[in-house]
Amino acid sequence: MRESPDSPWILVSDSAIHGRGVFAKMDIPKGTKIIEYTGEKITKEESDKRQDRDNENGTVYIFTLDETHDIDGAVNGNDARFINHSCEENCEIEIDDGRIWVIAMRDIKQGEELGYDYSFDKDCYEEHPCKCGSKQCRGFILGNDAVEEMTEEQKKEWLERKAARFAHNAEV
Ligand SMILES: C[S@@+](CC[C@H](N)C(=O)[O-])C[C@H]1O[C@@H](n2cnc3c(N)ncnc32)[C@H](O)[C@@H]1O
Ligand SMILES: [Zn+2]
Repeated sequence: MRESPDSPWILVSDSAIHGRGVFAKMDIPKGTKIIEYTGEKITKEESDKRQDRDNENGTVYIFTLDETHDIDGAVNGNDARFINHSCEENCEIEIDDGRIWVIAMRDIKQGEELGYDYSFDKDCYEEHPCKCGSKQCRGFILGNDAVEEMTEEQKKEWLERKAARFAHNAEV
């Protein structure tokens, strides 16, 4: 557990969800701008290359900024890159004038792990099982919006995959 040089509101520590995570150092009121997601601004072409490379070698810290650029938190990034995905998130993202902010969606209690919806789309979620542990867990790191956009067929497939994931977890 360590303090963060990047925000007075957070601590960085091991997470039950994955690797390191970010936790509330104190009660955080709804609406607080907790931390900016910083890093190198890169084109989509460069982002694709880095995602392939980082998927093989470790963790990907790339955040979608807009239709042409992403932010790579692995280069000149800060502790925002350690915030895990949650299907029952307590934070939301606001992009303002090219800057990415992590905002408290509700009052957050001291010690709670921070999480936001990574909003991964419906075409690649199977490769990313979710371990957020929430009652609302979608089984995969899959955006809530992506579920809304699914066709009936895609939704059926996702529900089957999700059931299989949790049935498997119950056995182990
Ligand atoms: C931006 S990093 C988050 C910080 C990460 N825990 C670490 O220690 O570096 C994103 C990666 O963390 C993991 N991760 C984040 N949220 C997760 C979740 N809910 N379930 C499983 N893995 C998760 C995935 O491997 C994902 O690619
Ligand atoms: Zn989940």
